[in-house]
Amino acid sequence: MSRIAYVNGRYLPHRQACVHIEDRGFQFADGVYEVIAVRSGGFVDEAPHLKRLHRSLGELTIAPPMSDAALKAVMRETVRRNRVVDGILYIQITRGAAPRDFPFPPGVRPSLIMTARAQRPLDPKILERGATVITVPDIRWARPDIKSVALLPNALGKQRAKEAGAYEAWQVDHDGNVTEGTSSNAWIVTAKNEIVTHPADHGILNGVTRLGVLQVAHEAGLVLVERPFSVAEAKAAGEAFLTSTTNFVVPIVRIDEATVGEGRPGEIVRRLRALYSDFALKGVVR
Ligand code: PDD
Repeated sequence: MSRIAYVNGRYLPHRQACVHIEDRGFQFADGVYEVIAVRSGGFVDEAPHLKRLHRSLGELTIAPPMSDAALKAVMRETVRRNRVVDGILYIQITRGAAPRDFPFPPGVRPSLIMTARAQRPLDPKILERGATVITVPDIRWARPDIKSVALLPNALGKQRAKEAGAYEAWQVDHDGNVTEGTSSNAWIVTAKNEIVTHPADHGILNGVTRLGVLQVAHEAGLVLVERPFSVAEAKAAGEAFLTSTTNFVVPIVRIDEATVGEGRPGEIVRRLRALYSDFALKGVVR
């Protein structure tokens, strides 16, 4: 079946789905995006994803291209036309196309692109055995809290992880603290069973999965601490994991050359994965 993309008002076969060469997303990475999981044909965490989309647009003063009601209709139509039952939906919004010039062009219409595709379930081996991460310097700009399409540092980090045979790269700031992964948030569980993750300041993307995990962990009476943690602390932690839309909760058993805990997925991570999966699937909206 050929895939269909939504581009600025039209549903087009992928081969014909193009944006203009002067689109500011292409010229300046002047745009934002969201990735939303589709389960049983519905959306996981739709409301917080749209809320974050509006926050990202607002931070860059890009006007929403259409109302939320219209956006939701296009989201559903894109999923329907691609016959996605379990998969992911991408929404990309740029400031629009205009002759190349740094200042914002007056009166430009934002570009809106949506694509959807089926996604194979996570390799069960990753969950059984746990994943590995490497650490890389965090070379991103100072506002990774905005979900901008400027993902070159993330792509470079992920490529390094791939070359090292690792699942993800954890980015490390000037103070030696782990900010987050290249496409996921980073967590550890301390010897005192405290669940620790970087605070949602300008240094990380405040993951929608991160927020869901914080909520279910809080409701389960687990101890949560939002503070930076160092690479050394992570390597000495009892458990570690990552969270994202496409992964939910994935245990980490090795950081660079260091084995985390006993080298297999720990109790708390397993519990959080189960709690979050339940929470996510209950919250699916059609
Ligand atoms: N990535 N941090 C970064 C840098 C991310 O790119 C992502 C998401 C996350 C996790 O956010 P969420 O839980 O809302 O997915 C954290 C998406 C999935 C992507 O780029 O594919």
